[in-house]
Amino acid sequence: MPRIAYVNGAYIAHRHASVHIEDRGYQFADGAYEVVHTYRGRLIDELRHLERLERSLNELSIARPMAPQAMRLVMREVVRRNRMTTGLLYIQVTRGVAPRDHRFPQRVKPALVMTARSIPEFPPEMRDDGVKVLTIPDIRWARCDIKSVALLPNILGKQAAAMANAYEAWMVDGEEITEGSSSNAWIVTANNTLVTQPTGHQILAGITRRAIFSLAEELGFTIEERAFTVSESYQAKEAFMSNSSHFVTPVTQIDDTVIGNGKPGTLTLELHHRYVRFMDDFEPLASLNG
Ligand code: PDD
Repeated sequence: MPRIAYVNGAYIAHRHASVHIEDRGYQFADGAYEVVHTYRGRLIDELRHLERLERSLNELSIARPMAPQAMRLVMREVVRRNRMTTGLLYIQVTRGVAPRDHRFPQRVKPALVMTARSIPEFPPEMRDDGVKVLTIPDIRWARCDIKSVALLPNILGKQAAAMANAYEAWMVDGEEITEGSSSNAWIVTANNTLVTQPTGHQILAGITRRAIFSLAEELGFTIEERAFTVSESYQAKEAFMSNSSHFVTPVTQIDDTVIGNGKPGTLTLELHHRYVRFMDDFEPLASLNG
């Protein structure tokens, strides 16, 4: 079945979908995005993703392309036309198309693109074995709270991780781990406290991170929002990463250091399973049945 993309008001065959060469996203990375996980026909936490998109656009003074309610309709239509049950819905808004000039153009319409890509369900071996992460310097800008499409440091980090046979790169500012190249970073201390970097300009306030806060509270886990250093992470009892597509993924090695006994930790696995139940609680999209 051919994939369908939404591009500025039209549903187009994915292989023909394109934007203008003077789209400011293309020339200046002048835009923001969201990745919404679709799990067994459910859009996970879509309202929070839309809220965060709105916030990113506000911070960049980019007009919203349409009201959130209309956006939700398009999201459903993209999922439906792609018959996507489990996959990733990508939403990108840029300032629009205008002759190249660093200043904001007058009277430009924001450009909205959505794509859908089916992915296999979360691989059980990743949960059972955990992944390795590589620490790298955090060379990003001072507004990492904005989910901007400018991701050069992130892709360089992810590639460096891949070259080192690691799955994710954890970025380090001074001595402190800020977050992953496309995920939030967590450790569990010897006294079973979950530690993660506080929200602020240094990290993206992950939607999964936020869900984990509620789930951890339900499970009676203690969370401390504070910076943690690379050496503290080496000594952690457990470690994990979180994002929309990887939920709670155990980290069993950081650089050359094996974490704990080298197996995914108990709290991490409990959170992973609890997160899967949390996703199951979302209503499946009616549009997929029709
Ligand atoms: N990335 N930090 C960064 C730098 C991210 O890019 C992401 C998500 C997260 C986690 O956010 P959330 O829990 O809302 O997915 C944290 C997406 C998945 C991506 O760029 O593909």
